[in-house]
Amino acid sequence: MTTAATQPPADALVLFGATGDLSKRKLFPALYRMEDHGSLNVPVVGVARSDWNDAAFCQHAHDSILAAIPDAKAAVIDSLLARLDLIQGDYADPKTWKSLASTLRKHKSEHAVFYMAIPPSMFPTVAQSLASVGLNDRGRIVVEKPFGRDLASAKDLNTLLHTVFPEERIFRIDHYLGKESVEDLLVFRFSNTLLEPVWNRNYVRSVQITMSETIGVEGRGSFYDGVGAIRDVLQNHLLQVLALVAMEPPAGPASNHLQDEKAKVFAAMRPIDPTAMVRGQYVGYRDEPGVAPDSSVETFVAARVEIDSWRWAGVPWYVRCGKALKENATEVVVEFREPPSLLFDEAGGPAPERNLVRFRLGKHDGVTFTLQAKTPGPHLDSQNVDVAVDFAAALGMRREAYERLLDDALAGLPRRFAREDVVEQTWRVVQPALDSPDGVHPYFRGSWGPAEADRVICGDTWFPPST
Ligand code: BG6
Repeated sequence: MTTAATQPPADALVLFGATGDLSKRKLFPALYRMEDHGSLNVPVVGVARSDWNDAAFCQHAHDSILAAIPDAKAAVIDSLLARLDLIQGDYADPKTWKSLASTLRKHKSEHAVFYMAIPPSMFPTVAQSLASVGLNDRGRIVVEKPFGRDLASAKDLNTLLHTVFPEERIFRIDHYLGKESVEDLLVFRFSNTLLEPVWNRNYVRSVQITMSETIGVEGRGSFYDGVGAIRDVLQNHLLQVLALVAMEPPAGPASNHLQDEKAKVFAAMRPIDPTAMVRGQYVGYRDEPGVAPDSSVETFVAARVEIDSWRWAGVPWYVRCGKALKENATEVVVEFREPPSLLFDEAGGPAPERNLVRFRLGKHDGVTFTLQAKTPGPHLDSQNVDVAVDFAAALGMRREAYERLLDDALAGLPRRFAREDVVEQTWRVVQPALDSPDGVHPYFRGSWGPAEADRVICGDTWFPPST
């Protein structure tokens, strides 16, 4: 499948929030990798409110790269630093925008990419200020998640951004869409003939999606306490993964073909019933810096989702995600219906177990098929065997999500970004859960979340992740 650029290639990258946390943890390391791979060919203009000078900014970029990539090459860092400019000023001050416009003129830039690595509350000011100096005429904008706080605010944000940029020049980022392992869901499903005939409610019994992290909020308490697990990852990362597992094959390779199929999955999805959702909070969360001492924000959520389509009606989709859990893993497990018992097994051994297809999307990404094979011995019994592939071993190392997405944004490729209607549909799905949240159930660090999460899964069990 090829992707067609729908825009001219960018001739500058402007980073709002250049001295912030996201730039430090993700964007500078990604820019370093792009420089190393030869794909970064434009000036990078940082904009920040902090009272920094060029030298401090370069030092910050340098330190951010080394913190993420300890063996980073000095020569590559130097060539990246040579591309950097810093505009320092208040976002509300017109002088900041004049200075940005004149810096872009200096670089002869006509098609800049504006990356909003800033708190969502600042998106309106920045978008309108870009328009005040005409920088919206041809540039495009990259907006970080979460896109809005609920359905109403997502719609408001879309309306506001559309007054400044047309939809095709708004790139809503969800870094899960930049992960090779997540994109593999699409390719694996639709390039292996053996899967399609059984990928439906006639053969699939349930689907479980787990994203578990061992870390807590780790210094991001004040951000996280205003967000929680539903807004931080369920509404975006997990539902995007779910759509790739559930959707019909796209009619073609264009971004809109893919977005259309995702939109159809969400349109057929019932809003989450708050009684089919359990929220949890790890013990000790309220003591984290930046977290309210009486916070009822969830650090864990488990929910049952249903898709009323010909392919999926009646199949439960179980999703759960959380911080301070037992293991780091992101997995999708597709569970098939049980086969008939081995009627020819005269010894009456155990019935064959259900087949599983497990997609590992985290660090050791790959696929595992859990199948049945004959148990050695005189009887015709079966037992589980795993047929597994580790993608890094089989296919070699792949590029990191932010590097791929920055490359795409600069090249003008929208397919790995989220379209307006798709984002609004995902908010529609989680909205009842946001409106009528049940209380939060405490759980201990290093556990699998609150025991109440079993309520969601209706007598089944959560599959422990394999990694
Ligand atoms: C981010 C969330 O979007 O994704 C974080 O804000 C989370 O809370 C992170 O830790 C997980 O990303 P990854 O790529 O490490 O699975």
